[in-house]
This record gives sequence, structure tokens and C-alpha cells, in this order.
Amino acid sequence: MDLPKVLRMKSGVDESSYFNNSKIQGVIIQETKIIRQDAAVEAYLCAASPDTMTIADLGCSSGPTALLVVSELIEAIEDKCIQLQRQPPEFNLLLNDLYSNDFNTVFRSLPDFYWKKSGNNGQFFISGVPGSFYGRLFPSKSLHFVHSSSSLHWLSEVPEELQYGPAPYLNKGKVYISKSSPSCVLDAYLKQFQRDFRLFLKCRGEEIVSGGHMVLTLMGRKSSDPTVLEDCYYWELLADALNAMESEGLVEEEKIDSFNAPYYSPSLEELKQLIEGEGSFSIRSSERFEAGWDAVDDDDHETICANERLRYAQGMAKGVRAVLESMVKSYFGEGILDDLFSRYSKLLENYYSVNNAVVTNVVIALVRK
Ligand SMILES: C[S@@+](CC[C@H](N)C(=O)[O-])C[C@H]1O[C@@H](n2cnc3c(N)ncnc32)[C@H](O)[C@@H]1O
Repeated sequence: MDLPKVLRMKSGVDESSYFNNSKIQGVIIQETKIIRQDAAVEAYLCAASPDTMTIADLGCSSGPTALLVVSELIEAIEDKCIQLQRQPPEFNLLLNDLYSNDFNTVFRSLPDFYWKKSGNNGQFFISGVPGSFYGRLFPSKSLHFVHSSSSLHWLSEVPEELQYGPAPYLNKGKVYISKSSPSCVLDAYLKQFQRDFRLFLKCRGEEIVSGGHMVLTLMGRKSSDPTVLEDCYYWELLADALNAMESEGLVEEEKIDSFNAPYYSPSLEELKQLIEGEGSFSIRSSERFEAGWDAVDDDDHETICANERLRYAQGMAKGVRAVLESMVKSYFGEGILDDLFSRYSKLLENYYSVNNAVVTNVVIALVRK
């Protein structure tokens, strides 16, 4: 799997696009807004009110959150400047994603963004930076603040042992870590995440100025055991949908057995250990939270009724499709997409009849030593 080519959020702004199906990522952005704004203000103060403040968003994608985040960061720093009676800095805003990302959709919304921000005192300059964040993207000591949301759970590749191991189909009938996965599958995923995350920290350690801040939000786990269903149900149910199609002769068994998601959701403890071990950053704060579909709703219901369950399941299935479609298509072919995600939606609806419609996330705020 050539990951930078096949990991591509659904482009454009039509009904099925990532732009229109990233509500849960929007909830995650809202839940972490204060942490991000506080850290950006601290980074500004720590850099002794620089003339230019350089901010990078890693894994910006093509949804509405890309510009929302930078807008809220500008706002927080400008408010601080007003409070301190200082001239706001110029903002150098760098939006990064893989080279196959639909940067054009982001760029097309810039005129509107510039127009909305035209009353601001500060100047800002926005650039796209294509490339993998598992490598250097920016010059040494050039960044004051880095932010990444809903992106770092993506690995740089499927763990090697699962691609070329002696028994290629170690994770039979599954597409991610599951109760039935042998321990070598769990190890392979953990090791790949450790390699990737250490490299990410090393690269950002070189790019961020001393005293610069970084806030990372990603899918995480409640349990130290990565096979617990509530931490990985979205993959388990995708495997169930694929297996149901296999039993009807619609998908080859061998295809399912050999597919493993290039994804890992760590526990907060795993993240902290890696950060402390790598050594470039100190931890300012860390927490785990649940982002729920009910936050997407305007209604204020005590209990979730069948209609809501259906809406949450459909929303989640559309969101997962907008994220995974290009990967599933390149592996299993385009023909299965509608059927697969319709089954997936029904399985989610059943799951939400006895479980909360939430996804667990971790957010960690770091300071470059
Ligand atoms: C689910 S989207 C999140 C987008 C946005 N931050 C948000 O909160 O809506 C994840 C993004 O991470 C990007 N991504 C994954 N791996 C990456 C990598 N190694 N380097 C840069 N971007 C990456 C994907 O291409 C995708 O656009």
C-alpha cells in the first residue's frame, strides 16, 4: 500500500466529501479549543512577542477545521496583544498534509477567510506545505506553535511484519487489532507507532524554537489493553461488514485477511512514555476525553432515542467513508463501497443501541525544552 497515495480524505465539497462529513473532527476541535489557544498565547509570550509568529497545522486536510483552527489561534494572540497594549505580530500560517490532499478546496475558501478577517489589525500569510509529518517539513527552529488534530493516529505505513511477515495473514478476518489478534499483531502495531511517533517528535524538536509549544490531539484508548472493543469498535464493525460480504461471495477472504489498517490509537500512558523517552519536549498537560455525536446535535435529550441512534450511525458511517474510501477502493475495488458502508451503518446503529456513540481521544500539550 503506497500510503501517501491512498490515504486521502474525500476531496471537494459535495455531499460525500470530507468537508461535509467531518463533524466529529469538528467536535474534537471544539473540545480542545481552550488548550490550543492557551498554548499558542504562551508560545507568543515565551518568544518575547516576536514580529512574526509562525504556526503550523499538521494534517490539515480539506475540511472546514483547517481555517477555523488558525483563525481561532490568531484571535487568541490578538486578544492577548490588545490586553498588553502591543501591536499584534504578523502571522505565518503553514498548512501541512500529504501531497495527495485536496489543498485546492482549502485555498478556494481563502478569499472568504481573508474577507472575514479583514477587520483584524495583524497581517497573516497562509501557505500549503505538502509532505509527510514523519519527516522534516520546515527549516530548523522556525516554528513557534504546532498543532495537529485527528491525524497522528495514522501510521507512516502498515507495520512491516503484517505486510511481509513469514505468515502474511496473521490477523485473519480482522482489519485492525482485535480480541482474536495474536500478540505478535499487537506488538507489530505498537512498535510501528513507537517508531513513527519518536520520529515525529525528533523532527518537530528540530523545527520548533526553544520554548515553542505543540498541541496534539489524536484518537486514543481508555484501556491499556488495545483489544477492548469500545476503543476500536469502528474497525471491528468494518471487519464484520467485510466478513458478511465475504460469506455472500462479494469479497475475497484472502483480501480481508491481508488488509490491515495503517492506524494506531495509543493510551495516554504510551504517549507520555514516548515523549519522556525521546526527550525534546516537556509535557504541559495531558488528558483523555470522549467526543460524542450528541455534541453535533442541537437537541438536548437525556436519553438517545432510535432516531438519534440512526442519525449518529449514519453520520459516523459517512464520516468513516469520507476518510477511508480511497484506501478501501484501492484495496477492495470501487464496486463494494455502497454495500459495505450501508452494512457498516447498520452495524453501528446496533452498536449504539447498547453503547455510547462516542470516540475516545487524547490531547497532549508540549513545550520544546
Ligand atoms: C481525519 S483528517 C483530520 C484533518 C483535520 N486536522 C481535522 O481535524 O479535521 C487526517 C489528516 O491527516 C493527514 N495525514 C495522515 N498522515 C499524514 C502524514 N504522515 N503527514 C501529513 N498528513 C498526514 C491525512 O491526509 C488527513 O488529511
